[in-house]
Amino acid sequence: MKIRLENIVKRFDDNTAVNDFSAEIESGELVTLLGPSGCGKSTMLNMLSGILYPTEGKIYFDDDDVTYVSPEKRGIGLVFQNYALYPHMTVLENICFPLEIKKVPKKERIERAKKMAQLVHVDGMLNRKPGQLSGGQQQRVAIARALVKEPRLLLLDEPLSNLDARLRIEMREEIRRIQLETGVTTIFVTHDQEEAMSISDHIILMKLGVLQQYDKPQYLYDQPANCFVADFLGNPPINKIEGVAKDGKVLLGDDEVDSTIRVDNVPDNTKVFLSFRAESVILDNASPLKAKVVMTSVMGKEIITSFILGGKEVRGYMNSDVELKRDQEIGISFKKTGVFVFDFESGERYL
Ligand SMILES: Nc1ncnc2c1ncn2[C@@H]1O[C@H](COP(=O)(O)OP(=O)(O)O)[C@@H](O)[C@H]1O
Ligand SMILES: [Mg+2]
Repeated sequence: MKIRLENIVKRFDDNTAVNDFSAEIESGELVTLLGPSGCGKSTMLNMLSGILYPTEGKIYFDDDDVTYVSPEKRGIGLVFQNYALYPHMTVLENICFPLEIKKVPKKERIERAKKMAQLVHVDGMLNRKPGQLSGGQQQRVAIARALVKEPRLLLLDEPLSNLDARLRIEMREEIRRIQLETGVTTIFVTHDQEEAMSISDHIILMKLGVLQQYDKPQYLYDQPANCFVADFLGNPPINKIEGVAKDGKVLLGDDEVDSTIRVDNVPDNTKVFLSFRAESVILDNASPLKAKVVMTSVMGKEIITSFILGGKEVRGYMNSDVELKRDQEIGISFKKTGVFVFDFESGERYL
C-alpha cells in the first residue's frame, strides 16, 4: 500500500511537534523515520496509526483519505519499544489474540498464528509465557502478533531500544528479513543512524518536526542536504572545522584548503564549516595544508589518525608506510567525495 502525507502539522498547545511534513512512501518499502529524541518521530507514527489526528494536513492510504479514520479501521500492525505482550497468555495465545477480537474461527486463527510464529522463528516456544522468553524472543512475538492480521502497513516505534547491542543487530536483520518475506509496507522509527542505514530502502531524517532529507541511505550519506544531515550520519562522525570563504577558496586560519575545493558562489568573508569524512582524508606531504599528528589508534581492521587542522582535532583513515608520531607535521589533502562546505549560520550546503 502506498502512503501520501500532505502538509502535516501537529501542535500540542504552542509546541509544534511536526511542521509542514509532506512525503510519499512507495508500496512494499521499508522507510525509516530517523532523528534525535523529541524531533517528532512518534508523533508522526501515531498520526499514521490514528492514535493522534493532525492539526492540519491529510494522510492518504493509496487513494483513501484516512486522516480521521480510527486505528482499528486502518489495517495497520503496531510494534512498540516495550513489547506489551499479555503476561498471562502463552506465545500462541498472544499471537492469536488480534484474530480472536476479529472473530476469526478458532481453527483458522491457530493455523495463521502458527504460520506467523514460524516466520519470526518462535514456533519452538508456542506454549511458553512471555516471562519465559528473552527480550529478542518477546519482540519476535510482538512482531508476529502485529503481522497476523495481515496489515496493509506495519509501524514499528523504536522496537529494538530495549535490547542489548548484539541482539539489536541480530533483530534489525530479522526485521528486514521478515519485511522482505511478507512484502508489507513498513515504517520504522529509530534515533540510531546505523540501524536506519542498515535496513532501510529510504530514510526520512527529521529535526524539530521538520523533514530535512528523504533519500536512499547511501545518498543521504554521500550527498547530505545540509550540515545537520552530514553531522547526523556516519561513524565516526564527520569532521567539522570553522573556516572563511575568500576568492572562492576556503581558508582555515591563514591556510588555504586544497585548491580543488571551490566555493565560487559564496561571498567573501562568509563563515563556513569545512566538513569531511574520515575516509576522505589523504596523507599528502606535498600539500601546503599542514596538520599536526595527535595519535594513531587501531579501530578494528583500520588505523585512524587524529590530527590538529585549523585549530581543531579531527580524524582520518590514512595510508602510511611508516608509523606517524605525536607532534609530527603532515600534509593533508582530500578525496573528491565526502568533502562538503556548509554555511556556518544556516547549515545550507555550498559544496
Ligand atoms: N501528548 C503530548 N502532549 C504535549 N506534547 C507532546 C505530546 N507528545 C509529544 N509531545 C512533544 O512533541 C515533540 C515530539 O515528540 P515525539 O514525537 O515523542 O518525539 P520522538 O518520538 O522523535 O522522540 C516533543 O517536543 C514532545 O515533548
Ligand atoms: Mg519516540
